[in-house]
Amino acid sequence: MLINGKHQHTIWYNVEKDNVLVYDQRYFPHKITTFELNTSEDAFYAIKEMVVRGAPLIGATAAYGIYLAAKENPQLVHIQERASYLRTSRPTAVNLMWALDKMLVELQNSSNLLADALALAHEIKQIEIDISYNIGIHGLKIIEEISKRKNGAPVNILTHCNAGWLATIDWGMSSASVFMAHEKGIKVHIWVDETRPRNQGANLTAFEYDQQGIPHTVIVDNTGGHLMQHEMVDMVIVGTDRTTRNGDVANKIGTYLKALAAKDNNIPFYVALPSSSIDWELKDGVKEIPIEMRDQNEVKYIQGKGKNGLETILLTPANSPAANYGFDVTPNRLVTAFITERGICEATENGLLSLFPERK
Ligand code: MRU
Repeated sequence: MLINGKHQHTIWYNVEKDNVLVYDQRYFPHKITTFELNTSEDAFYAIKEMVVRGAPLIGATAAYGIYLAAKENPQLVHIQERASYLRTSRPTAVNLMWALDKMLVELQNSSNLLADALALAHEIKQIEIDISYNIGIHGLKIIEEISKRKNGAPVNILTHCNAGWLATIDWGMSSASVFMAHEKGIKVHIWVDETRPRNQGANLTAFEYDQQGIPHTVIVDNTGGHLMQHEMVDMVIVGTDRTTRNGDVANKIGTYLKALAAKDNNIPFYVALPSSSIDWELKDGVKEIPIEMRDQNEVKYIQGKGKNGLETILLTPANSPAANYGFDVTPNRLVTAFITERGICEATENGLLSLFPERK
């Protein structure tokens, strides 16, 4: 999608230096810079420190991390060791495990690990682009229907965190259908949850819609319920970091509360779900999905643009401890439907299996 009018991806291979470049998302929207990945350690750092973030982009970065590992030492044993290490960079987004498993399985019998690792990383990147695009095509139908029902008045969509193109490679999960609706001339307006503590909504989602020229309004995280009570939200659409076989959804902390409010107000709550985010091994999301705990300083401090550029300031009493739960789980009963790359389905095991019968 667009940055300053130019079509960009979030991650790309740099032929000249034989390395990998990503946008450094820690400083968006105030500073647009890139970050070089030269080693598998750099890929680990980029994922852990959230230079890159968002489930599909985390997976793609890990895949390129395996290529960088092959450059360090093109032996299978080294690649396996680096894959185990990369797997520990963040715990919740299952795309990380999906991408690493795919790389390891396919490199098992490779006679040219270096060339094959690069080709596979490119393939994973392309798979994620195609998934996003197809989720967009299916989600567009839902937006079109609501727009017709409202006689062309703007469709108000609430979203949480950043499940946009910056969380993927291009198009995004929750954003793909919005971009497509806007391109078709359908009027949309997005309520953007700021998403404390890392502010992915305020910093990244708002940036994406601003760059694309799509009407949007940033709101504090607790506003959604009020808007829903006053018929100011037509639908909610979020992404997911890991969805279990029976349809429980882990996504950025606060998603569950939006789903509860949507249920209470009879507002459809959709999850844009790439198959790379489905954990077919798990069933009960609340009990089984590992929830990331991050540094308490992400809660205690906030970053923004001050007179001297980017500044970080303390919000809380210096001595107050803080707890930083990264994700929560929305039980499947609160999800209206999944929008996947293969179509729309009920948020149940049967629903998922109707689209992915090979997983029966
Ligand atoms: O901590 P983050 O920024 O990696 O969390 C991102 C989210 O929770 C997204 O909503 C999720 O990855 C879905 S993106 C397709």
